Amino acid sequence: MNLLSPQNKSLILFFLFAAIAIVAGLILAIIAITFFPITIVLFIIVKYTPVRNIFTKVYHKIYDYLFYQSEKPRKLLWGFIYDFMCAYFPLNKWRALNYGYALLNENGRILNNLDEQQEEERFCLQLYHMVATNCLKLKDLQGKRVLEVGSGRGGGLYYIHSALKPESCVGVDYSQNQVDFCKTTYGLNQKLNFQQGDAENLTILQIQTFDLIINVESSHCYGNFQRFVQEVTKLLNTGGLFVITDFRAIQEIKQFEEDLQSTGLKLETKEDITINVLQALKLDEKRKQQWMTRHCGIIFRSFFSKFSGVQSSRIFQELSERKTLYLIYALRKV
Ligand SMILES: C[S@@+](CC[C@H](N)C(=O)[O-])C[C@H]1O[C@@H](n2cnc3c(N)ncnc32)[C@H](O)[C@@H]1O
Ligand SMILES: *[C@@H]1O[C@H](CO)[C@@H](O)[C@H](O)[C@H]1NC(C)=O
Repeated sequence: MNLLSPQNKSLILFFLFAAIAIVAGLILAIIAITFFPITIVLFIIVKYTPVRNIFTKVYHKIYDYLFYQSEKPRKLLWGFIYDFMCAYFPLNKWRALNYGYALLNENGRILNNLDEQQEEERFCLQLYHMVATNCLKLKDLQGKRVLEVGSGRGGGLYYIHSALKPESCVGVDYSQNQVDFCKTTYGLNQKLNFQQGDAENLTILQIQTFDLIINVESSHCYGNFQRFVQEVTKLLNTGGLFVITDFRAIQEIKQFEEDLQSTGLKLETKEDITINVLQALKLDEKRKQQWMTRHCGIIFRSFFSKFSGVQSSRIFQELSERKTLYLIYALRKV
């Protein structure tokens, strides 16, 4: 076995971080015990007075900066997280990584043709269906060449490949581990292919062009979103369509829309699907809770509940309060 395979590298890196965090924690604990009375007073102030709100605010500011606003740190962080998750949870059944789409009725279904494996991730695949059929007014994608940027664990692109039968599908993702996962899980052929690449520099693909480029819940990870739009524009055929879905804080949406149209792509449709995403999160809650109980220890549970969008998570709160919206756009190269 290759000790420094990409999988092992991300695991080793993670445990290195964990070791540093534990040492830092121990040092803090020793300081706290040494200054015992002061620690208690500080603890009470932080926990039970309005100072608490200030701490929460500062924490959220730092957190938002690192994960959603910065350029370099954001890119490095997300890249590391997805690589690590894939190495740590190589579960073959886990193939999609988005918050999902559901109709506002009891079962939320729009698809009836899913197999047993796909049924598990129904809502994630329904979001893909919405994206892939947006604006096309077609039952299938016959003859179309499809590119997905940020294809993750590939379940969505595999759904498009098998259910909508385009001419070909290419998935690109920043995380080498996820690309390897896709290659082993779906096998490679002329019609479905995965490769490692960066949304902000898609030079690797430039000998090809595409009729449909999709992007599902990935663009919030990019350091420079406008550069991504430039890359997409280069890779689209004239008449080709770019369909993107993701969430954004309400104050970021204006800039996001300007960036989307900064290369001359023509906006065809825009839809706010926040309530459908919330509905999917509600209907998927039980499955996620079970998944976390089964597969995550205590440490990972708190991490996962943050990102999985369970009802106690901040993202669920913000979507409910409409401080963050989940949107879908289709743009055409004219
Ligand atoms: C929330 S996941 C969504 C994955 C997939 N679209 C899905 O819905 O199942 C975000 C994905 O974006 C990928 N990503 C993040 N930054 C990227 C970049 N700069 N270039 C390409 N992919 C990136 C991550 O590796 C991850 O797979
Ligand atoms: C994009 O990536 C290619 C290699 O894949 C590299 O040669 C090129 O310099 C990169 N461009 C930028 C702007 O980083």
